[in-house]
Amino acid sequence: MQIVVLNGSPKGDESVTMQYILYIQKKFPQHSLKIINISQQIKKIEKNQEKFQDIINKIQAADGIIWGTPVYYCLVPSQYKRFIELITEKNVESAFKDKYVVSLTTSIHYFDHTSHNYLRAISEDLEMKFIKGFSADSRDLMIPEERERLIAFTENFFHIIENNVPTSKHFLNLNPREFNYLPKEKVSEENKIDTENKKILILTDSLDEETNLGKMIKRFRIAFSGKTDVIDINDIDIKGGCLGCLQCGYDNQCVYKEKDDFMEVWDEKVRKSDIIVFAGNIRDRYLSSRWKMVFDRSFFNNHVPTLLDKQIGFIISGPLSQIPNLKQIFSAYSESQGSNVIDFVTDEYGTSEEIDSLLQNFAAQSIRFSNSNYVQTRTYLSKGAELLFRDAVFGGMKFIFRADDKYYEQHGLYDTFPQNDKNAKKMSDMLIPLIENNEDFRKQFYANIKTEMVKPLKRIVEDPDK
Ligand SMILES: Cc1cc2nc3c(=O)[nH]c(=O)nc-3n(C[C@H](O)[C@H](O)[C@H](O)COP(=O)(O)O)c2cc1C
Repeated sequence: MQIVVLNGSPKGDESVTMQYILYIQKKFPQHSLKIINISQQIKKIEKNQEKFQDIINKIQAADGIIWGTPVYYCLVPSQYKRFIELITEKNVESAFKDKYVVSLTTSIHYFDHTSHNYLRAISEDLEMKFIKGFSADSRDLMIPEERERLIAFTENFFHIIENNVPTSKHFLNLNPREFNYLPKEKVSEENKIDTENKKILILTDSLDEETNLGKMIKRFRIAFSGKTDVIDINDIDIKGGCLGCLQCGYDNQCVYKEKDDFMEVWDEKVRKSDIIVFAGNIRDRYLSSRWKMVFDRSFFNNHVPTLLDKQIGFIISGPLSQIPNLKQIFSAYSESQGSNVIDFVTDEYGTSEEIDSLLQNFAAQSIRFSNSNYVQTRTYLSKGAELLFRDAVFGGMKFIFRADDKYYEQHGLYDTFPQNDKNAKKMSDMLIPLIENNEDFRKQFYANIKTEMVKPLKRIVEDPDK
């Protein structure tokens, strides 16, 4: 069989992910796996119609497709996202229709599931037959059991194609509403919100006031009595997407530092704001690839949170609530940065008046939260991430991510690794032998467990001084 592998790694042939593909090729010599370096060549593919068409022809002729890609910021690299956009922009969807397809990623498993969800949803939108994907840790190929797993997975992939097995569909088609948002043009002076010297920045990929997005941004801005700044991310000089070169691992300096303005904008504008609003139009099942490029390029900070204690909000035009995957990605991003997520305001439901009042409230809330330095309690989205990153850096990647390592050391993240709670240790040392060896004690212990667990909390509740 002829399988086309669309390589999402900007590193091209030097990709970790492609080693998994080459391994599959070695184990299944009866099939041909043709790798096409999509992300690495995206600029050429975008400019050169012949090159693009050649790729589409290969896809059309293939028996199956593999989305083979690293996970970048809970999705795929921006260059790959751009390729996905080109499919609809150039009306070549028919080449993908009814093709069997699978996703294969490498990562450290931070939001690999959202990346797979995205690729599945995109494939289903293209009416492809999606087979459940494979998410490898970057180093899994070194482990014999993981190689066995990869072989079993691939056997199933080929079996399904050869036998024309039906595949299930997991995502409903998007159904965006046709709606022309007509905001109130003015906000009365008494309803204006005092900015209280907060620096408010809106980052958007469109300021077109003919669109709902442009109008929502304008309406948000006039809610305030003071100044708000807005940056169109298309106007930032960004020479290209993240190259995945990891040079930033040493000291958080990007190889593009002298070549474009991204680092400066991030450090001088974004990081110096108190309230940051990300605004964009839904494009396929994410925002634009330009937006993805911004997130990817912020990787020069590696796993060090750079937006600690900021207020972050989202103004989005399009069917966000039909894409819970995307909301989860943005929530995880903001939480992992140590920011508070104010809200997501969209134009997907409600009247113009209702959207007006949501935006007004959004503005008021941002100042209120900023004044009280409120950051939401952390959920699994960032708690899980912190442990995963910490373990990954402490484990195999200390020598690459020198800046992360120093940050974790300085901020006490290693202190809890694996656990350094002396009281908990004392309790365990005392209780475990009793629970294990003394049946009467064990019975008594589990009978009282509910009461014992609330005891220290009750002491706080009942203490008039606390
Ligand atoms: C910009 C950037 C973003 C990344 N984002 C994630 C992520 O969200 N989750 C994750 O588990 N790994 C993430 N990684 C790690 C890569 O997915 C991982 O190193 C992968 O194996 C690289 O594969 P490649 O060599 O084929 O490009 C990221 C790496 C880079 C450079």
